[in-house]
Amino acid sequence: MSLYSVFKNIAFKFDPEKIHDLTISSAHIAPKFADLFTRIKSDDRFALDSPCMQWKFPVGVAAGFDKNAKAISFFEKLGFGALEVGTITKQPQIGNPKPRVFRHAKINSLQNGMGFPNAGSDEILKNIKQSEHSHLILGSNIGKNKNTTEANTPEEYAYLYKMFAPVSNYIVVNISSPNTPGLRSFQKKEMLAPILQAINEEKKLIHRPIFIKIAPDLSEDEVVMLCELSKEYEFNGIIATNTTIQHEFGAGGLSGDFIKPYSQKVRSLVCQNLKEDSSQVIIGVGGISTYDEVKEFWKQGGHFVQVYTSFIYHGPQLLADIKNGIRSDLIKYGFKNLNEFHQNIHQI
Ligand code: FNR
Repeated sequence: MSLYSVFKNIAFKFDPEKIHDLTISSAHIAPKFADLFTRIKSDDRFALDSPCMQWKFPVGVAAGFDKNAKAISFFEKLGFGALEVGTITKQPQIGNPKPRVFRHAKINSLQNGMGFPNAGSDEILKNIKQSEHSHLILGSNIGKNKNTTEANTPEEYAYLYKMFAPVSNYIVVNISSPNTPGLRSFQKKEMLAPILQAINEEKKLIHRPIFIKIAPDLSEDEVVMLCELSKEYEFNGIIATNTTIQHEFGAGGLSGDFIKPYSQKVRSLVCQNLKEDSSQVIIGVGGISTYDEVKEFWKQGGHFVQVYTSFIYHGPQLLADIKNGIRSDLIKYGFKNLNEFHQNIHQI
């Protein structure tokens, strides 16, 4: 039995959010805690390039896991290629009343209605500046405070872009979390365009790769429109997807195995609409738990992947399994490294 299985057996007896916070605090105080678990070592053969950045390993931690940027070094030690901190809001906020995170263990899923609890932009900026990491790609996922008016929202995203671009490798405009009232309406063209415009003003001063994170609950027309906006405003691409509200478990969004079909459908549409534009990068997230799913996403034209729920259920072994899958394919198809494999995947 792996150490993670022992940890999980104990952890799953407690409230999901409490044990999560305790783990992040421990990882903050003692990042070497990562040495106890299965870790994958950095190896250039497993790096993946894209038009706007390189990840040393193609799998990152999805937003919401390390909301306050407390465990950056810990995730680097585990072998992740990237960590997306946040969602960061301008002002600190406590989020929705607890309990607000629930496990659905039989279907390897989580339900969360957190509503962006976070320490706020000033504190999180300090945490990032104090963090120690060398090759981990750091993404900052930004969102609006619950009480920010529609009129002030573009300015708030631009403010956060300006603040976090200098300390991040990429920025994410999150307009797809279901737990901040009205946030998802910013996925409409007339609501999103002013945000992208405001950020583009700041991009003239400091340029960082920037992505739009979208929901798995969009219609085909909406997905196409969001892909067009990413190209029109010269953003670097799309992160698909956030959690789904297509369920009957009550408030909050579902993640993990439950959302595979919803996420995969939206990811395929994004890939179809962006793959011809070589400047656009697609980051896949939502229900990804096996190497075969990663490979399928690459075949469709996607680049990096992120995990949240499958990491809770499977632990660091998930990274080792994906690495082993890549290694086997490199041997089987005779490629030197992941970049070669990724570029030629349509031929296998
Ligand atoms: C999330 N997710 C999330 N996303 C985001 O953009 N900002 C956030 O603050 C959060 N917070 C958050 C908390 C919890 C408890 C969960 C489970 C998820 C969504 C996450 O980044 C991801 O998009 C989805 O969970 C789908 O991926 P998985 O979990 O199926 O791999």
